[in-house]
Amino acid sequence: MPPLTIRPKRSFFPIVQKDYLEPASCKLFSTTAIGNSQEKEESQKISVTFFDKDGEQEIKVPVGMSMLEAAHENDIELEGACEGSLACSTCHVIVMDVEQYNKLEDPTDEENDMLDLAFGLTETSRLGCQVIAKPELDGLRLALPAATRNFAVDGYKPKPH
Ligand code: FES
Repeated sequence: MPPLTIRPKRSFFPIVQKDYLEPASCKLFSTTAIGNSQEKEESQKISVTFFDKDGEQEIKVPVGMSMLEAAHENDIELEGACEGSLACSTCHVIVMDVEQYNKLEDPTDEENDMLDLAFGLTETSRLGCQVIAKPELDGLRLALPAATRNFAVDGYKPKPH
């Protein structure tokens, strides 16, 4: 006669695995999550370099901010007398790379009218208050007109209108 086997009774409680015993806070505040949010913040800023008569200054500009605001926040001497209301041309900047210039929205008629009054106008001139940071413009290089006497823009020599 075969020996009797006793079957264990089935438990009605689910098996609790060790992982489930970790406090929830371990997962909610992991360093990976913090790293990702910092990366996201960084990716929403672009790098812009301003060139003026004293040299160059690279700054980080949040997407959506105008170059005029960015310059003012970083003590760059870009005037902006009308504070971005398209009533002056004192925020005139020169985009140094044609490729970057072509990524900008076309200037409005109002901007073109003001640009016509700008000192040292070039074919890649824009009003700084109308150039808004967007991811495609990362690496943008802008010259302030007073500085253009000292260098050529990627082989292109700006000529006054
Ligand atoms: S600040 Fe006056 S037009 Fe840009």
